[in-house]
Amino acid sequence: MSPQAVEARANATVANLGVGFDILGMALQEPFDIVRAERESAPGVRIEAITGDDGQLSREAHRNTAGIAAAYVLQQIGAREGVRLSVHKGLPLASGLGSSAASAVAAAVAVNALFGEPLDRAALLAASLEGEAAVSGRHADNVAPALFGGITLVLGTTAEAIYSLPIPPNLHLALVTPGIAVPTAQARAVLPQSVPLKAMIHQTAQVALLVRALYTGDLALLGKAMESDSVIEPARAHLMRGLAEVRAAARAQGALGTVISGAGPTLCAMCDSDTCARRVAQAMGAIYAELQLPATVRVTQPSAQGAAWRAV
Ligand code: HSE
Repeated sequence: MSPQAVEARANATVANLGVGFDILGMALQEPFDIVRAERESAPGVRIEAITGDDGQLSREAHRNTAGIAAAYVLQQIGAREGVRLSVHKGLPLASGLGSSAASAVAAAVAVNALFGEPLDRAALLAASLEGEAAVSGRHADNVAPALFGGITLVLGTTAEAIYSLPIPPNLHLALVTPGIAVPTAQARAVLPQSVPLKAMIHQTAQVALLVRALYTGDLALLGKAMESDSVIEPARAHLMRGLAEVRAAARAQGALGTVISGAGPTLCAMCDSDTCARRVAQAMGAIYAELQLPATVRVTQPSAQGAAWRAV
């Protein structure tokens, strides 16, 4: 019997991991979005409530990443009934933590569960991408890790194009999110349209090094490879206030590397212990205090688990 109401959770993600623009992503244990779905006799999707977004997100289902993903699931399963959704945003918006992806994934998983899980995870990836595409473009480097968990190599937008990479033991993360919004579209508009051969060679070499570091669990090498982005970060750096200072402060407290999380402005530092991550987070927050910018710091770890649901 299908449940009457379902709550699904999808976690924040760090896309790119520095050098792996649009091809690497990592699920975090925190923060996360929760979407509650209930059946409704009227067809279609109705968004009943959104909390945690300061009223910024559209309540119109066809303009909302969760609403679009939910509608896609209903259409795929040929549902005659509809759903109403309540979305709780644990993720900050336009912060580089995969906010739109998390809501889309949680909605797709919740609605599918409500109807007895007729769709497999490949179809849920497609549904989540529909929602994500409406907000930040059709790339799966946030959606795939949010849905499947872990660290993913994303070669395309279908499930066969997603490869799981190992999570190194003892990887701890310190994150700082300054109170400035950097919309993904803006952060993509500043990118170069072509890349010199020399830069291409450097970038691919660093991605290869990063993958080796994941397989060997060499966190120092991981941090070094992640920081070696010579294409995307230089083009975006001017949008990320405090990047150089935060990186230096993080390193001084033992961080092994600091990168822009996704399209920013969240910055993510790699550490080899929880104690180090806490020290680094505090130092990163202090930089924004000096710059008189509000900022939120977080300490977390990669999540091996993908999106999950429960009947409520
Ligand atoms: N790979 C994407 C970017 C992630 O950096 O633009 C943001 O959605």
